[in-house]
Amino acid sequence: MKYAIETFDLKKQYKNFIAVNSINMKIPNKTIFGMLGPNGAGKTTTIKMLTCLAQPTSGTATVGGYDVKENPDEVRELLGMVPQQVSLYKDLTIKENAELCADYYGVPVDEKFDRIDELMELVDIKYAQDKTINQLSGGQKQKASLVASLVHRPDILFLDEPTIGLDPTTKRVLWNLIEELNESGHTIILCSHDMHEVDMLCDNVGIINTGNLVAYDTPQGLKDQLLKEQKEEYSENIKIALSKIYEENNKDSEDIEEDDEFSKPNGANSKWADRERDIKITKELHLKEMSFLVKNLSDKIVDEIINNPNVFSVDIINNERVTLKIESFGEGVITEVLKSVLNNGGLIESIYTQEPSLEDVFIKATAEVDENARA
Ligand SMILES: Nc1ncnc2c1ncn2[C@@H]1O[C@H](COP(=O)(O)OP(=O)(O)O)[C@@H](O)[C@H]1O
Ligand SMILES: [Mg+2]
Repeated sequence: MKYAIETFDLKKQYKNFIAVNSINMKIPNKTIFGMLGPNGAGKTTTIKMLTCLAQPTSGTATVGGYDVKENPDEVRELLGMVPQQVSLYKDLTIKENAELCADYYGVPVDEKFDRIDELMELVDIKYAQDKTINQLSGGQKQKASLVASLVHRPDILFLDEPTIGLDPTTKRVLWNLIEELNESGHTIILCSHDMHEVDMLCDNVGIINTGNLVAYDTPQGLKDQLLKEQKEEYSENIKIALSKIYEENNKDSEDIEEDDEFSKPNGANSKWADRERDIKITKELHLKEMSFLVKNLSDKIVDEIINNPNVFSVDIINNERVTLKIESFGEGVITEVLKSVLNNGGLIESIYTQEPSLEDVFIKATAEVDENARA
């Protein structure tokens, strides 16, 4: 079996409202899948259909090879679920809750206690095994929930915002645990708003917006795709910007006769002013930021960098930290900038460039469909 989960036009409609709109996706076996999407996008509804808590209106899905409509009992046996709101019995202890789950799934009695012990050690909560759920902190509750959901050794584990509200240290413990579970063969479906978490842990990411699957790829694939789109968008924006500048200058020259200020060849400073105008007009422009620390920074170096046509802004702090906005796709722009520094006696001590983040991808993917929905 290649895919842990496959959906086929999976749809959920509440009266006239389509919560999940014919989603088709495949989640490879033994991978970590991240489900992203704004509030109300349809994530929980999708998970509910995949875990047999809600019936699809049309279409279907297979989980571990079993159809959620035809074989819900087999599907339930295969999966574990850590819901966003911990759904354990609050007056029972961690151990008692785990025992109840083990009994529900028919875990053999002679194995049950060993498994529970093992899991409590794995998530490091054994020290609190006799505390009731009421007495636990948020992170401890999440761990208790994990123990209970793993006791029947599910192949597929659903985690709905498992690290929300946890302190950074406990988050890390859970991240490590998710990775360990995956390495030992579990497929993991992770719903999260934490882009860093998803970027770091997930093999594939699906972005859901207004019931539609609007993006599906590896985290790197999504970021690369955004870079490509930005390149196209950029070329378009630069065309618009240039024509606007041209129009503006034509207007000026009507007032001040034949004063072609725009193309007048003067020093770096006025050229610079023109470029600043470009930036103002193309606010939407996605530029890449680059920052470096230079010893022996001189006017010559700065002049050369300012005059590089692929450099859009230059900030200099303490006469050593240079921050540039550069055209991401300008041929060899980074090399040229570095040459300007090195050929003029500068010494580079550190360099930093900023690539698009998964958050940028998310914002773009979810904004686009909003516009489609409005149209
Ligand atoms: N039982 C229901 N009846 C009517 N509408 C619902 C029901 N459950 C969810 N919805 C609606 O479906 C949409 C998707 O909800 P949900 O899947 O919970 O979103 P998410 O988990 O992505 O925040 C929301 O607009 C929500 O109001
Ligand atoms: Mg939800």
